[in-house]
Amino acid sequence: MKTRITQLFGIEYPIIQGAMQWLSKPRLAAAVSNAGGLGTINMTTYETPEAFQEDIRLLKSLTRKPFCVNLSLLPDTKPDGPIKGFLEAIVEEKVHIVETAGSSPKPFMDTLKGAGCLVMHKIPDSRFAHTAEDVGCDAVCIVGYEGGGHPGMAGVGSIVQWPLATERCSIPVVGAGGICDGRTMYAALAMGLDGVMVGTRFLMASETDIGPHLRKFIIESRETDTVLTQMSIRNALRSIKTKGAMDIIEFEKTHPTFDELYPMIRGAVTRAAYEKDDPQAAQIAMGQVLGRIHDVKPAAQIIKEMMRELYDMHQRVTGMLEPSPYRFYE
Ligand SMILES: Cc1cc2nc3c(=O)[nH]c(=O)nc-3n(C[C@H](O)[C@H](O)[C@H](O)COP(=O)(O)O)c2cc1C
Repeated sequence: MKTRITQLFGIEYPIIQGAMQWLSKPRLAAAVSNAGGLGTINMTTYETPEAFQEDIRLLKSLTRKPFCVNLSLLPDTKPDGPIKGFLEAIVEEKVHIVETAGSSPKPFMDTLKGAGCLVMHKIPDSRFAHTAEDVGCDAVCIVGYEGGGHPGMAGVGSIVQWPLATERCSIPVVGAGGICDGRTMYAALAMGLDGVMVGTRFLMASETDIGPHLRKFIIESRETDTVLTQMSIRNALRSIKTKGAMDIIEFEKTHPTFDELYPMIRGAVTRAAYEKDDPQAAQIAMGQVLGRIHDVKPAAQIIKEMMRELYDMHQRVTGMLEPSPYRFYE
């Protein structure tokens, strides 16, 4: 299949696996890349640059296909701060594709571009699309409000954000937030996007290290069973509705400072919940699309089924259309 994203990244299908803290490890990323998509591991899963570099090497040993590394940037992330060692690992390992998320990647562009990286920046609001282009990104990923993780504060869903992003920049645009199958992928491509990013669906791939309780909880949950935490600090996080998430929302009503809230929202709490397979113990990032996910299967099968359904959808739509009446007016 040929889109600006498959051509840019050298992949077979324009399906990018979303970065997922603690979960998008080499086994999942390699399975996605080997199946023709673009697998991703992310910096925020690793406590040290050495552990991060080790897993980049492991990923390279598991796939010869392109893969991506995600860097999550906060407003106070400085190139010579704690991220420095992670950047050095990316340069040393000659990582070819980097996704940045969060704050503007501008301060990091010289290093990343100097190392020959392609940079895709993930944004939660289409008005930042032209900024990504202006600072030299090669692609932009736009996440709708239904997406898992940080869907921004704009409150605007994928069906409005995606086409707006294509109108606000000329670089390739990837859509995220709600994609789990060929139908949603077809819609994204029809709206002018060049590729899709899939988070929550791949969280339920057999290659992620999550336990049976969390898997069962997700299968039994509906599209209405997510909540937004961290709204009070303007860093919205969409989580499955767990006790941990509801406790955070309750505490936020008392107007805590960031430092007061931090012990409840820090990543280590979620990691412990994964390790104990106790989903209620933490907020756990998840998109509304969880209401459309009813099974666990290998990443390769998810991709294969998406592609098969994409063709079915194309036939469905073309079968509905009469020969174009508009040709008479050309
Ligand atoms: C469990 C989980 C953890 C996530 N962690 C991160 C992260 O660390 N960095 C990041 O940029 N995006 C993160 N995301 C967002 C995804 O990369 C992706 O943008 C999002 O899941 C797409 O929406 P969807 O869930 O509807 O597919 C996470 C998503 C999930 C579900």
